[in-house]
Amino acid sequence: MKVLVYGAGVTGTLFASRLHEAGNDVSLLARGERLAALQENGVLLAEGDGPVIMQVPVPVVERPAGSYDLIAVLVRTHQVEDVLKSIAGVRGDVLFLLNWAAGPEPLEAAIGRERVLLGFPNLGGTMDGQVVRYRATSLLTRLVSMPIGEPDGRVTPRLRELVQTFRSARINAKAETRMDAWLKTHAAFELPLGQSVHAAGGLDSLADDPAAIRDMIRRMRQNLKAMPSRPVPRAFNVLHTVPEAILVRVFRRFLRTDAASPLATDSPAVSAELDRLAEQVSAFEVHPS
Ligand SMILES: NC(=O)c1ccc[n+]([C@@H]2O[C@H](COP(=O)([O-])OP(=O)(O)OC[C@H]3O[C@@H](n4cnc5c(N)ncnc54)[C@H](OP(=O)(O)O)[C@@H]3O)[C@@H](O)[C@H]2O)c1
Repeated sequence: MKVLVYGAGVTGTLFASRLHEAGNDVSLLARGERLAALQENGVLLAEGDGPVIMQVPVPVVERPAGSYDLIAVLVRTHQVEDVLKSIAGVRGDVLFLLNWAAGPEPLEAAIGRERVLLGFPNLGGTMDGQVVRYRATSLLTRLVSMPIGEPDGRVTPRLRELVQTFRSARINAKAETRMDAWLKTHAAFELPLGQSVHAAGGLDSLADDPAAIRDMIRRMRQNLKAMPSRPVPRAFNVLHTVPEAILVRVFRRFLRTDAASPLATDSPAVSAELDRLAEQVSAFEVHPS
């Protein structure tokens, strides 16, 4: 499959590497200092805090060229607008793998309805200089699959093919029939989490502050209530049914695990993404079902 991975940050680099290693014809699109570093050293990956750094020879490009079977967009929420302009005239299905709670409509309006697919990346990690340090494989990462779906919920031949392509590349993808609701649910949950980590000044500080965690849980509950559809997956209903005191204990423990470490990333891009996501989540109430 001919794939353009748009965005060479943490997740884009990981996806491009896995798809390249599986034999796909992959180009990784980067810009600025990241582009120069990738052109000089190639993709550099390490597992967790490990000392071993692997180099993966993924071809790197500065702009899209020609047509693709798939353009996978892995940028921050507030960066999507510029990407839409850049790919409007480039042929290929486009899978947005990112935090996005505004529904498929603005994406479809910009690049054409038939081109849009939605999803959320299940590979993660942090950037350490030019090295992407990915989360070590664990039972949790093996169990959590990557949802991808058509905006209208159909399981189409192209969606099945994409799921297979990702699985062949050691990316545990699955077809999700309610992808927009999935993304909105995720934003309803992750926005208060990300905001609270940043307000507290880090994961440990938040873990040590039960009052801040209680406030965070209340905001998660409000967001989920305001959603135009039921939460997906339904497991998120536990935020309403499980007593607050137990949830506080669960979050305090979660915040000290490796799975929470990407939330500790503090950068202008992370803040800007949270701000844009907050705008998208606050619009839930404007569009009741
Ligand atoms: N990191 C994780 O562990 C993780 C896990 C799950 C989900 N996510 C979500 O996945 C999405 C992507 O996250 P990420 O961690 O990969 O973000 P990231 O590390 O900030 O990477 C985004 C990359 O896209 C580049 N980019 C943005 N606009 C561009 C443009 N117009 N042209 C060229 N390059 C452009 C950025 O370049 P600049 O630096 O120059 O802006 C940056 O290199 C986000 O929604 C995030 O919340 C992340």
